[in-house]
Amino acid sequence: MSRVIPNATQDSTFNPSPQVTVIGAGNVGGTLAQRIVERNIADVVLLDVVSGRPQGVALDLMEARGLEGHDRSVRGTIDYGDTAGSSIVVITAGLPRKPGMSRDDLTKTNAQIVVEAVKQAIAQSPNALLLVVTNPLDVLTYLAWEASGLPPERVMGMAGILDSSRFQTFIALELGVSSRDVDAMVLGSHGDLMVPLPRYSSVNGIPIAQLLDAATIDRLVERTRNGGAEIVELMQTGGAYYAPASSTCAMIEAIVQNRSRLLPVAAYLTGQYGLTDVFIGVPTRLGRSGVESVLELELLPAELEALHQSAEAVRQRTQAARERLGE
Ligand code: NAI
Ligand code: 2OP
Repeated sequence: MSRVIPNATQDSTFNPSPQVTVIGAGNVGGTLAQRIVERNIADVVLLDVVSGRPQGVALDLMEARGLEGHDRSVRGTIDYGDTAGSSIVVITAGLPRKPGMSRDDLTKTNAQIVVEAVKQAIAQSPNALLLVVTNPLDVLTYLAWEASGLPPERVMGMAGILDSSRFQTFIALELGVSSRDVDAMVLGSHGDLMVPLPRYSSVNGIPIAQLLDAATIDRLVERTRNGGAEIVELMQTGGAYYAPASSTCAMIEAIVQNRSRLLPVAAYLTGQYGLTDVFIGVPTRLGRSGVESVLELELLPAELEALHQSAEAVRQRTQAARERLGE
């Protein structure tokens, strides 16, 4: 007796594997691809401008499948046609910071790379959500949104989760407790003007102000602001990528699994916190449709002022980057 195996593609209830395109197969892109497939979240297409690199990384990850116990596919390519039909496009293409370089020094080169990559990727996947990682993050998320033609809720930048995770780590290390018990919140731009919020940071519900003195909290806040640069100074030849990949993967998981997670991401504001027409880090509800809503925390005047300063700097840099792109 022959056994008939149903053809899943002919079954109208079959939900095909979601596909995530990662543009840039460097340190962040390659590690992100690894996180996505090894956590069994989605298939990945890795694209880079350097032929051989994405194919090599993809093959290497495929050869680990049996050992890691998953059947997700990773394909490497230099052809945007291979990325068609993706649910999410992640932009990690660009240059990382070198010692002494600010994120904004990278603006001109990375703006050109990101805008071109977004146009090509979204032409192949017009229904995708767009997730930007390349620096300077808040500025390039705006330029990517403009280049994409997508509604703003389908475009977002990754930074707040990373910055919050760094703050969480430093609090946990200082107190000698598990990071899992620490909740930390960082808003604002991904840079020197980021806005860590100790008032909204706690250890199993206990505000950190009850566990740490003000000078210690200030020191941890400062280390968080300097978190990316601290790693660049140590590594000398590139920036952080393990925690950035984990942070980006958390966003992708929330979207693919439609979890409506409350996560800080760079989102487009339309009046929330008194800010309009800027992408900046705020707490959002993240699910399948993208940024489902922006949560407006009650901020003290000084916290709100810091967020506005951060947004004003992003706005000025965004305007300058748009003008330079047009030259
Ligand atoms: P990397 O140098 O290891 O990888 C970048 C990759 O982009 C390279 O493989 C390069 O060939 C590729 N690339 C360059 N131009 C391209 C193009 N036109 N099309 C496709 N691919 C292209 O750099 P890494 O460490 O992966 O960092 C990538 C970016 O992410 C940097 O801008 C870095 O500053 C940023 N970053 C942002 C973070 C955040 O919190 N938002 C955290 C960590 C990194
Ligand atoms: C970071 O914060 C370089 O933006 C990157 O590690």
